[in-house]
Amino acid sequence: MGLKQIKKICCIGAGYVGGPSMAVIANNCPEIEVNVVDINENRINQWNSKELSNLPVFEPGLKNIIKRCRNKNLYFSTDIVNNIKSADMIFISVNTPTKTKGIGAGQAIDLKWVESSAREVSKYASGETIVVEKSTLPVKTAAMIKKILINPSSKNNSKKFHVLSNPEFLAEGTAINDLQKPDRILIGGENSFAINALKKIYLHWVNEDKILETNLWSSELSKLAANAFLAQRISSINSISALCEETGADVNEVALAVGMDSRIGSKFLNAGPGFGGSCFKKDILNLVYLCNHYGLNQVATYWQQIIEINNWQKNRIVKIVVEKLFGSVADKKIGILGFSFKADTNDTRESPAIEICKELLEEGAILQIYDPKVEKEKIESELRAYSRKWNYANSVFDAAKSSDAIILLTEWQEFREIRWEEIHEIMRLPAWIFDTRNICNVNRMKALGFCLWSLGKQN
Ligand code: NAD
Ligand code: UGA
Repeated sequence: MGLKQIKKICCIGAGYVGGPSMAVIANNCPEIEVNVVDINENRINQWNSKELSNLPVFEPGLKNIIKRCRNKNLYFSTDIVNNIKSADMIFISVNTPTKTKGIGAGQAIDLKWVESSAREVSKYASGETIVVEKSTLPVKTAAMIKKILINPSSKNNSKKFHVLSNPEFLAEGTAINDLQKPDRILIGGENSFAINALKKIYLHWVNEDKILETNLWSSELSKLAANAFLAQRISSINSISALCEETGADVNEVALAVGMDSRIGSKFLNAGPGFGGSCFKKDILNLVYLCNHYGLNQVATYWQQIIEINNWQKNRIVKIVVEKLFGSVADKKIGILGFSFKADTNDTRESPAIEICKELLEEGAILQIYDPKVEKEKIESELRAYSRKWNYANSVFDAAKSSDAIILLTEWQEFREIRWEEIHEIMRLPAWIFDTRNICNVNRMKALGFCLWSLGKQN
């Protein structure tokens, strides 16, 4: 087999990363056959669904690519064994959540899905295979993968493996654009033939100067560091938002002024209800765990603080809501606008809405929850313990009806276009709006008669 000529790719894991990233490879490389496999049959069926609105991942632009490539050079399947057997290159794109039990519980990454993928590859791969870490992994995981793949007791020496690290930097909601126009492609590895084989794939649509080659450990660690730096900016601006509320400074103005310094930059400085998503928290916890493991306790404490501020931000929003509603929300209807962790995704993992809703339900509130893309079942699974105290709303109107307050939690475009004069009429007075995303125009809302609390402004 010629290492430089990749004809068949297998991606293990058809999730938020595996699905979109492989779709973009298939779209840009028509001569390569891309097979995305998963143990979750239901998920594979959804990827194969004729009705494109049933895809398991909602991402702007994804449907079009699936329509173009599916069953031409992009396949979704549960046949893991045969697709591993025939692949020249295998991406491991499985979930890497925080461990919930045992040593490192609550901090370390549970690598069991990565390990089982590596074992499957070791067993079924044939010839010379490039194994690419696409999942976000603790630094040094490639050493574990190599140990599993290159089993010295194996008599079958016709198999040969090269391990690369190629972390994914896409953000949900903009995944297709991020994949199509990445800031950089990071490839960590030791074998230049393997590195070049992967590089060649990206060169179909990415300029060479955007492709960065490093050693394996730099690549693995850079992904954790990048997420930690991004989350750090959010905790920084959120901490300042609280100070703005006390002092009369406006967090948007402060963010603008700070961000105009080209050394700081203007992106990722939007104050909000706290960062969510499946990765920031778990990756920082992992960083904290690794630092402690290497005896770097001060470094661990430093990064842990990013999470503490994030929890505090969610918590203080609930306190403000309760306080403004005369100290009690018991039996009061509250409309929740937005349940996904950010706009343009149906993903609710670690969404700040979950914690905020749970705390309000604990306080006895009756929630009316609306999100343009999150299905009732998903909200149900997050709020299972409180099934009788919340309702699924089918529209902003439904969520607002007879409510004492509305809490804006996700910055969906739809919420920027709300006809607030109509909403005011169906709410109980005084009608409170808690705007945690700075969507509402303060003067207009006040003129309409709302009591408005905006995050990061003196209210
Ligand atoms: P996900 O949970 O959506 O998808 C993972 C999939 O892997 C699941 O469908 C699961 O069934 C499958 N799987 C697990 N073990 C398997 C096995 N042995 N064989 C076959 N399939 C298996 O997760 P995700 O959001 O796609 O994240 C995957 C990785 O990418 C994580 O490490 C994450 O940190 C990283 N990442 C995620 C994002 C994001 O925006 N979601 C962005 C960058 C990086
Ligand atoms: C994030 C990173 O942006 C990606 O580069 C990375 O690949 C990915 O994590 C990952 O490893 O999973 P994602 O979590 O999908 O992507 O979305 P972000 O746009 O980063 O938003 C994360 C959270 O931060 C959201 O809750 C969002 O509302 C919040 N946020 C973001 C703010 O509160 N303010 C901002 O200025 C930006």
